[in-house]
Amino acid sequence: MKIIINTPAAIRDAARTFIADMGKARVFAFYGQMGAGKTTFIKAVCEELGVEDVITSPTFAIVNEYQMTGDGNPIYHFDFYRIRRIEEVYDMGYEDYFYSGALCFIEWPELIEDILPDDAVRISIEQQPDGTRIVSLRR
Ligand SMILES: Nc1ncnc2c1ncn2[C@@H]1O[C@H](COP(=O)(O)OP(=O)(O)OP(=O)(O)O)[C@@H](O)[C@H]1O
Ligand SMILES: [Mg+2]
Repeated sequence: MKIIINTPAAIRDAARTFIADMGKARVFAFYGQMGAGKTTFIKAVCEELGVEDVITSPTFAIVNEYQMTGDGNPIYHFDFYRIRRIEEVYDMGYEDYFYSGALCFIEWPELIEDILPDDAVRISIEQQPDGTRIVSLRR
């Protein structure tokens, strides 16, 4: 599926469309160049899922944990951009997150491609010359 985001105001609607298509999958890998809009989109998805305290700190750790209001299930948001060696990902205990059954949203999955779960859903976000973003789900 393809979701086209024409304006920043349309991100919320796009997030809702995305959520409706998530199904039972738990691990979502977001591909896209620097500035494509991965963080922005994941943040909107988390907010639509009921997270109240989505962190936008500049000192984003490899993983940030958000709490959904209501059911208390966590959401894990990863950014692997700054890792230098895959050992750093082993050391953080990535399996405890990826296979926990909790939702995982991953930025820069190309840096951990070999250890992505087989059933991870891959998503591309592309910025067009006019600023439009195209979010495509690859199944
Ligand atoms: N759909 C959109 N429409 C317009 N602007 C957007 C959209 N999505 C993101 N932006 C803007 O683009 C910039 C980069 O967004 P963002 O930080 O989400 O990118 P990113 O893919 O996470 O980048 P990085 O790889 O560096 O983490 C921000 O200024 C953001 O406000
Ligand atoms: Mg980002």
